[in-house]
Amino acid sequence: MIKISPSILSADFSKLGQETRRVFDSGADLVHIDVMDGHFVPNITIGAPVIKCLKPYSPLPLDVHLMIENPERFLDDFISAGADIITVHTEAAGNLGEIIARLKKAGVKPAVAIKPATPVSAVLPYLSSLAMVLVMTVEPGFGGQKLIESTLDKVSEIRAECKSKGYNIDIQVDGGITPENVGRVAAAGANVFVAGSAVFKAPDMKAAVEGLRLGAKSRFA
Ligand code: DX5
Ligand code: ZN
Repeated sequence: MIKISPSILSADFSKLGQETRRVFDSGADLVHIDVMDGHFVPNITIGAPVIKCLKPYSPLPLDVHLMIENPERFLDDFISAGADIITVHTEAAGNLGEIIARLKKAGVKPAVAIKPATPVSAVLPYLSSLAMVLVMTVEPGFGGQKLIESTLDKVSEIRAECKSKGYNIDIQVDGGITPENVGRVAAAGANVFVAGSAVFKAPDMKAAVEGLRLGAKSRFA
């Protein structure tokens, strides 16, 4: 199933509640929330208290992307704030198995992310226990960057592994997704598409989301 997850990193931060509602009204499937701590990535955004306030604005699941060092320290805060999916980076986490188990126990979908330079081997051992794998298609930290083409091979590798092992998990791509490249990215095997600038900078958000969905559907392997 193709899912579109607009990233509110590209939204107007002076009205994040209404912007989160706008994501729902646009027909998207998820709300992607980028949490950054200024250590794991050279940028700082929002934390659990803000997510707690956004929750009532979104009937859609909150897809929380933790770009923070040692995410295990804050898991309970993001779980209580209402995150429906929590993605931690293999490069930042301590004991991934423990984090995945804690999230599952709390009824939150566990996901793991890898940066462009991190090999697929970092996530393969966990595939059977994950709801989703996030393949970063840009260096994490900022919206509006250009997709790094070489990351598509990693998407294909993970999709092939899932097919060979019979795993039915989502493969999310995040960074530089546009109407022009979404078809190729879907053909590589991704089925969940994060888009910040391509959605929030578009004149018509609903049309932008629908365009991404149709573009992906037309090529999804
Ligand atoms: C970058 C974030 C992405 C980013 C996507 O570190 O993880 O979610 O907001 O923004 P665009 O779609 O503009 O590249
Ligand atoms: Zn993200």
